[in-house]
Amino acid sequence: MRLLITGGAGFIGANFVHQTVEEHPDVSVTVLDALTYAGDEASLAPVADRISFARGDVADAELVDRLVADADAVVHFAAESHNDNSLSNPWPFVRTNVVGTYTLLEAVRRHEVRYHHISTDEVYGDLELDDPAKFTPTTPYNPSSPYSSTKAASDLLVRAWVRSFGVQATISNCSNNYGPYQHVEKFIPRQITNVVDGVRPKLYGTGENVRDWIHVRDHNSAVWAILERGRIGETYLIGADGEENNKTVVELILELMGLEPDAYDLVSDRPGHDMRYAIDSTKLRDELGWSPRYTTFRDGLAATVDWYRANEAWWRPQKDATEARYAQLGR
Ligand code: NAD
Ligand code: DAU
Repeated sequence: MRLLITGGAGFIGANFVHQTVEEHPDVSVTVLDALTYAGDEASLAPVADRISFARGDVADAELVDRLVADADAVVHFAAESHNDNSLSNPWPFVRTNVVGTYTLLEAVRRHEVRYHHISTDEVYGDLELDDPAKFTPTTPYNPSSPYSSTKAASDLLVRAWVRSFGVQATISNCSNNYGPYQHVEKFIPRQITNVVDGVRPKLYGTGENVRDWIHVRDHNSAVWAILERGRIGETYLIGADGEENNKTVVELILELMGLEPDAYDLVSDRPGHDMRYAIDSTKLRDELGWSPRYTTFRDGLAATVDWYRANEAWWRPQKDATEARYAQLGR
């Protein structure tokens, strides 16, 4: 199979490329990535001699057409992915997430290529802390931020291209990922690298917000299950029953890094901050026989702390610019 992976130099995409090279050696991988501030070719260095890399924009119709024409399937990870950035400057989110997805859909339609769309649980909005409900594939869309609304728009484009044009597509909506190669702007790597730098972790608001954590390798094994066995036109929710509030996560990071669990600061809240996400992944588990392997959050987090300690050369170049952006927001 010839697989085109967009956003393969980003966090989840790079881990997906690594896993694909390790576990599906018969697959020929091409990565398309614009190498924005969030993409890093160094994340692909361990597999560089086993893949092809094209630097370019998913909204570049000519380039996308050429690459899709040479593929049997596309997995579309590329996106502007950070909520805080989307609140400061929404336009790149509209362009990459909406126009970029449209560009890919038109190309897979022309060339009749299988397409898998990577999306987020944030399209469903948020839940109250005491709500027993979780998101399911029939939960109505209700996105809160410019980021999540552009992801919701891209999901709806995919659904329309399946129904109106017969495009062979599937969609997955996953919860919060953690693991190696995640940009230091995101919650867990930001706090780990702050502690390495002797800076106190920063919790937005009261720290009560809940995220449903999944290890990136479990997200990616689910994507492979959908690619191989998913039903065309279907949406699968990916989650590993990993609900934790932000305060607990920071306390665990501090403990794992040998500091007092209360050595953090509360900072101003994110506008429109979603309270809680929670995924019901029954459909994925029952239909495709998928289950997560990294189910002990503490162990996965400890391994992630070790990875950031051992790979400072990878994250250090991004750290100062990231913290300068946060300083402008007062967070
Ligand atoms: P990321 O920000 O780490 O990586 C995004 C990658 O896309 C980068 O390599 C960047 O260079 C590339 N990119 C951005 N704009 C591009 C463009 N116009 N053309 C080509 N490449 C471009 O993101 P991530 O956290 O790895 O997320 C990947 C996907 O997974 C996204 O679609 C995101 O919405 C989705 N997702 C993320 C999470 C999570 O917890 N991080 C959870 C669920 C879904
Ligand atoms: O749910 C899936 C989504 O998870 C993905 O679609 C997004 O691409 C991904 O970025 C992530 O979105 P969040 O906004 O949940 O992730 P973030 O890492 O930015 O923040 C996680 C939680 O931690 C959130 O409640 C905000 C809080 N936070 C974040 C930062 C950066 C803090 O308390 N302090 C911080 O310094």
